[in-house]
Amino acid sequence: MPKLVVVNRSGEESAIDVENGLTVMEAIRDNGFDELLALCGGCCSCATCHIHVDPAFSDKLPKMSEDEDDLLESSDHRVESSRLSCQLPFTDDLDGLKVTIAPED
Ligand code: FES
Repeated sequence: MPKLVVVNRSGEESAIDVENGLTVMEAIRDNGFDELLALCGGCCSCATCHIHVDPAFSDKLPKMSEDEDDLLESSDHRVESSRLSCQLPFTDDLDGLKVTIAPED
């Protein structure tokens, strides 16, 4: 099973196995990281699933939609590698992807 590496807000790193068909948000949430609120449940309307993605993987990620871009714009913690994790389906291609849960807005 492909692995996702999650860095929480305290800087602790954990590797989790991700089932096919989940988004990065679902994988993080289902593994007990309750600091990733994902309040809207993944319909791209809350921005509480904000993560910073390892730039080494940025070419492998789906293109950002206008809605995602707008929502990220509302965050004080947006950086070049910011994404909404509910908009990222986790595929075998992303094995080893490292993401950091963004600070709370
Ligand atoms: S869970 Fe709400 S935007 Fe991702």
